[in-house]
Amino acid sequence: MIPRRVLVAGATGYLGRFVAKEFKSRGYYVRALARSPHKLDDMRGELDEIVAAEVTDPKSINDVCDGMEVVFSSIGITKQKSKLTWKDVDFQGNKNLLDVARRTGVQKFIYVSVFNGPDLRHLEIVKAHEGFVDVLKASTMNYAVIRPTGFFSDMAEFFEMARRGRVYLVGSGEDRVNPIHGADLAVTCVDAVDGERQEIDVGGPEILTYREIAELAFRVQGKPVRISSLPVFAMRLVSSAIRVFSRHQGELLAFMTTAMTGDVVAPRTGQRKLEAYFHGLCGQ
Ligand SMILES: NC(=O)c1ccc[n+]([C@@H]2O[C@H](COP(=O)([O-])OP(=O)(O)OC[C@H]3O[C@@H](n4cnc5c(N)ncnc54)[C@H](OP(=O)(O)O)[C@@H]3O)[C@@H](O)[C@H]2O)c1
Repeated sequence: MIPRRVLVAGATGYLGRFVAKEFKSRGYYVRALARSPHKLDDMRGELDEIVAAEVTDPKSINDVCDGMEVVFSSIGITKQKSKLTWKDVDFQGNKNLLDVARRTGVQKFIYVSVFNGPDLRHLEIVKAHEGFVDVLKASTMNYAVIRPTGFFSDMAEFFEMARRGRVYLVGSGEDRVNPIHGADLAVTCVDAVDGERQEIDVGGPEILTYREIAELAFRVQGKPVRISSLPVFAMRLVSSAIRVFSRHQGELLAFMTTAMTGDVVAPRTGQRKLEAYFHGLCGQ
């Protein structure tokens, strides 16, 4: 049987790596798109092809979808520092990729936005994600939009703060989240290729308060629990002030403040627990 062919854009990132592996484990031919292919050196044996290209440079991606049936993209700015904005990458970069996918006859485009995206468009990062979703929906392309809660990789921030001795929470820390491991989310992403649903909210198996996550981070490291709560109004003031000097950093802080001051609980999937993930970080 001829394997189905997928382009994984974002394969050098936390989620993209798991998605590339999940596609491979289901027998797909996997082409990974990377602006820094060396980041995939440890995965060369697991991928069929690696193409060097930049979604923000349309000429470089002209041929990347040739022969592909499916495009998956988790391309987006998270912690990367450069002059590029979310609009340049999350919106325009993914739009450039969609244009190429449409021209080359790709059958389905799977895209990763954020949970509650449609209600959070006032935040720049979400506006870029959901702006692209609008373009995707308006196109003739068959699509699925995945809207996950926080990834385990983001919860690692709590682990690092605990390692340094104190975790700072925004507000009371009593808001809840069900974070998800990249491998569990990858299953949902790949299932979406043959699924009927076009918009998929998804989170991990455990619902925890931010305070419980902080306590877990200390417990796993055998350290005394030291938690400080930062008032929400102060965080809002600080993010507005930082915006004056760095719009990007100010927006990141505003996004974080919003994420930690309201429940972020989506339909549950997967089995991987945060405690095991934190234990895995202990050796690093
Ligand atoms: N982390 C979370 O908790 C969370 C929750 C919900 C949704 N999301 C969204 O899910 C997506 C994937 O998240 P992740 O944690 O896997 O992110 P990640 O580890 O930072 O990976 C992002 C991917 O996008 C690529 N990228 C970033 N800036 C780029 C640029 N200027 N040009 C080309 N490619 C660029 C990265 O390539 P390089 O390796 O070359 O930088 C990487 O492959 C993001 O859009 C994020 O907003 C994340």
